Parts: sequence; structure tokens; C-alpha cells
Amino acid sequence: MRLILLAAPGAGKGTQAEKLSKHFDIPTISTGAILRQNIKDGTELGKVVKGLIDKGQLVPDDVMIQLMNDRLSADDCKNGFILDGFPRTLTQAEALDHSDIKIDKVLNIDVPDEKIIARLSGRLECSKCATTFHKEYRKPAVDGVCDICGGELVVRDDDKPETVKKRLATYHEQTEPLLHFYADKGMLRTAHGQEEISDTTKEVLKVLED
Ligand code: AP5
Repeated sequence: MRLILLAAPGAGKGTQAEKLSKHFDIPTISTGAILRQNIKDGTELGKVVKGLIDKGQLVPDDVMIQLMNDRLSADDCKNGFILDGFPRTLTQAEALDHSDIKIDKVLNIDVPDEKIIARLSGRLECSKCATTFHKEYRKPAVDGVCDICGGELVVRDDDKPETVKKRLATYHEQTEPLLHFYADKGMLRTAHGQEEISDTTKEVLKVLED
């Protein structure tokens, strides 16, 4: 399975990518996680992208296309992959379309903006392994501590309410048009984000069967 997850920030792409990755036994390539790791490591790329991410803006297309060409040619992608966060603009989608990488399906997780704002304001992320939790919907066993690795749980810099609004505006303007791009190719499947994460996963698996 070569799958693109295409949804608004906070719609649950990362959460569902984690489930689908286990279900299909294929890696998830999260562009956000790759970029945040670069920021943490203080790389040249990290220095370039930090300001943009903190403002809720997108990283330039040429940077992302090069990054993903390199990543998708790695051995672990040979039997399939889940793209969480790429493509995000028509230029990125066209570059992928013209490459040798063939995509089977594109999944949209549909969640209204109001719910997204509530979700992101409660999100916690492990500072070590980047697993996400939620203050209400996915509580860690011990407050402030990651269930997986024991790392400290923190609020992402770009989850501040003003930045979330900007990220949503960027999504509607630059990423939402991709829904038509992939619908026209017959590749788009849509699931509706449910209150329970496991209910969303059930719907996602069902729509991916079509
Ligand atoms: P990225 O990390 O991809 O951020 P995003 O798209 O804004 O996605 P999020 O991680 O915020 O949301 P998600 O849908 O994964 O939500 P999650 O599952 O965590 O990118 C960050 C930045 O990097 C971008 O803004 C941009 O600057 C840059 N970038 C990345 N890719 C790029 C590209 N291709 N081109 C240019 N720039 C790029 O869920 C959210 C919360 O809700 C969690 O707390 C979760 O527990 C909870 N939750 C999930 N599902 C449910 C549910 N069903 N019910 C209740 N709560 C739920």
C-alpha cells in the first residue's frame, strides 16, 4: 500500500498513520516529524524551517520535494509507505505525480475546524519519541510522562491558538485544492473523524477497502 494522508492539521493524520503503519506493516513518513527532528538537532535545514513552522507557514516546495525524493528512495519504502504531510501544495503533488513513485490511494480525514482547534489545544507530544497524547482524548497513564519511552510530554510550539488558526488558513488555501486533484484521478477516499480514535480507524480501514 502506497498511501497519502491528506487532511487539515489536527484532523488526526499522525494518529491514524501510527495505526495504519502497524496494520499494514509499512513505515510512516511524517514530514512534520522529520522537520521537527532537524530543528531539535540544529541542522542547516532545521535553522531554515524553524521560523516558517512557528508562524504556521509552509516550507518551500523545492526543499520538501528534494527531501521526499531522498526519503522515498530508501530501502524501507520498497513495500509501501504512508505519507503523513506530503504533498501539501499542487506543486508538490505534481512533482510526485511526475516521479517514478506510484501512489495507490489518498485518504482524507474530514474534521470541522472547530473540533480541530479543540483537539490541538489539548495535544501533548513526547519530547523524546514524538508520540502524541491528548489531555482529554488520549491521556497518558502518568500525567506529563510518555507511556512509550518515559519522556517528558510538552505542547508543540506551533499548537498555540494563533498559530493553529494560521495553519488552518494555510491548509484551506494551499492544501485543500489537492482533494480535487486526487478526486479527479479517482484516488481519493474520505473518512469522517469520529469522537473516538478507534472509531475513526475502523472507518478509515473500511474506506480503504474500496
Ligand atoms: P505536521 O507535523 O505535518 O503538522 P500538521 O499537518 O499541522 O499536522 P498535525 O501533526 O498538527 O496534525 P495531525 O492531523 O497529525 O493530528 P494528530 O493525529 O496529532 O507539519 C508541521 C509543519 O511542518 C507545517 O505546518 C509546515 O510548516 C511544515 N511542513 C510539513 N510538511 C510540509 C510540506 N509537505 N510542505 C511544506 N511544509 C511542510 O491529532 C491531533 C490531536 O487530536 C492529538 O492530540 C490526538 O491525540 C487528538 N486526536 C486525534 N484523533 C482524535 C479523535 N478521533 N478524537 C479525539 N481526539 C483525537
